[in-house]
Amino acid sequence: MRLDKFISATTTLSRAEAKKIIKKGILINNILVKSPDYKIDEINDQVIVNGNRLFYQKYVYIMMNKPQNVISATEDAIDKTVVDLLEEKDRIYKVFPVGRLDKDTEGLMLLTNDGELAHKLISPKKDVEKKYYVEVSGELKEEHLELVKDGLVIDEGYKCKSARLEILESSKVKSIANIYITEGKFHQVKRMMKALGTTVTYLKRLSIGTLELDKTLKLGEYRYLTDKEIKNLNK
Ligand code: URA
Repeated sequence: MRLDKFISATTTLSRAEAKKIIKKGILINNILVKSPDYKIDEINDQVIVNGNRLFYQKYVYIMMNKPQNVISATEDAIDKTVVDLLEEKDRIYKVFPVGRLDKDTEGLMLLTNDGELAHKLISPKKDVEKKYYVEVSGELKEEHLELVKDGLVIDEGYKCKSARLEILESSKVKSIANIYITEGKFHQVKRMMKALGTTVTYLKRLSIGTLELDKTLKLGEYRYLTDKEIKNLNK
């Protein structure tokens, strides 16, 4: 990798800013280098900027407990995004959110720069199950379990893939459930609940495949995935 690219990938500096500081000279394996196109061995070369060695990590994986009123995008002119919630030091990896959660949905948001894994997790063909905790106004009934399992038909006639509903509490006024789906259509859970004659009042994602939301994360907080979590997601 070129030196200017390496510096911009491992610091908050842009490529142009990296070029500027390279002109003044960068210590690489104790030798002063001044050319931006100098080829770096990302793993073995010792690159020192402002007295600190730069370490290159190709892929990073972050789980966040997304709060409401934050959108799952990398940037937005109006709203705060999940990437805005990251500290500057964590933004250097240029992560993006895997799949979408609505502005008013809370819970597990995975952020990564690993496009291949992201695709694997959101592609409906891969059948990765996502678990949501949902509160609705209206009654969820036993007969709904079968409808959801058979594939609910939502508003415009689209037949959902088979899903699983687990009713936790139910009354005529309010019901609480967990729902497990393998697709990620726009407003999918809300539309499925509407098809069952109810309206979502609160929605939170609890898991994506093997990855479960860390219960110790408060809304807006995040942490890096453990090696075990990454390994399990890649299985
Ligand atoms: N389904 C929805 O309706 N909204 C979400 O944010 C996620 C799934």
